[in-house]
Amino acid sequence: MSALPQVAPAWLLVRAEVDDRSRSAELARDAAALLPAGRQVVHDLGSGSGAMMRWLAPLLSGPQRWVLHDADAGILGHRDPRPIVDAAGLPVVCRTSVEELEDLDPSTLAGATLVVASALLDVITAREAGIIVDACVEIGAPVLFSLTVAGRVDLDPPDPADQLFANAFNAHQRRNVRGRSLLGPDAVGVVGHLFATAGWRVRTASTPWTLTPADSALIAEWFDGWLDAAVEQQPELGGLAGDYRARRRDQLASGELCVVVHHEDVLAWRA
Ligand SMILES: C[S@@+](CC[C@H](N)C(=O)[O-])C[C@H]1O[C@@H](n2cnc3c(N)ncnc32)[C@H](O)[C@@H]1O
Repeated sequence: MSALPQVAPAWLLVRAEVDDRSRSAELARDAAALLPAGRQVVHDLGSGSGAMMRWLAPLLSGPQRWVLHDADAGILGHRDPRPIVDAAGLPVVCRTSVEELEDLDPSTLAGATLVVASALLDVITAREAGIIVDACVEIGAPVLFSLTVAGRVDLDPPDPADQLFANAFNAHQRRNVRGRSLLGPDAVGVVGHLFATAGWRVRTASTPWTLTPADSALIAEWFDGWLDAAVEQQPELGGLAGDYRARRRDQLASGELCVVVHHEDVLAWRA
């Protein structure tokens, strides 16, 4: 059985619109400018249900062929069936590939003109990051990795317990899951360093989710997951968590709660 945690399709759905408005359009434009003329072959690692393709394909020239890679065949099966078109309005062609990043080989990416990922780097290990970077460096295509958690959240109004739970959440992000030590908020630094060491240029952009009361459904889901993870990591916080959750839920219900969840996007290309 795979040691990888499975992501719920409903969670990807509830965050999709905020993800789309948060990713760096500037880095996407820069990525587009690095592409060769003509046919594009884009590989999306940890593609889930294909959110990155839906967002990015219309920003790139075509014709485009995408390969969606994910270890979880179930999530690939939840792909949005609506047609996707490139910047010129041509339909994008897509296929899926069920595989773990551990098994990623440069030959898997042969012919790629761009490699992308979204909301992936923080849930992988240093070893998997090395495998991805080695494969990308070998094929030489630029990479655009969006929406990696940065390890910072701002809740407004502030609460004295925020930092306590934030620290526990970050420790949870870096936890060891059945022998896999996750990179969590260290991911962009690690991946950026690997590309820079290989002589590649690296640019990052801050891409926070900026959530207002209009995003109450996502705030509610995110907050419960964030707090549950913090308590799972540090069960001794369980006693404080009940009152804290109730305070935050009241603020959410009365339209007072705003949240910024910090992320980073990274673009890397051969110098
Ligand atoms: C948070 S989801 C993001 C999905 C999608 N990229 C998006 O932005 O909606 C992370 C995805 O990466 C996949 N994943 C995580 N670790 C993986 C690994 N080691 N090998 C292959 N897929 C992995 C998961 O199955 C999941 O679909």
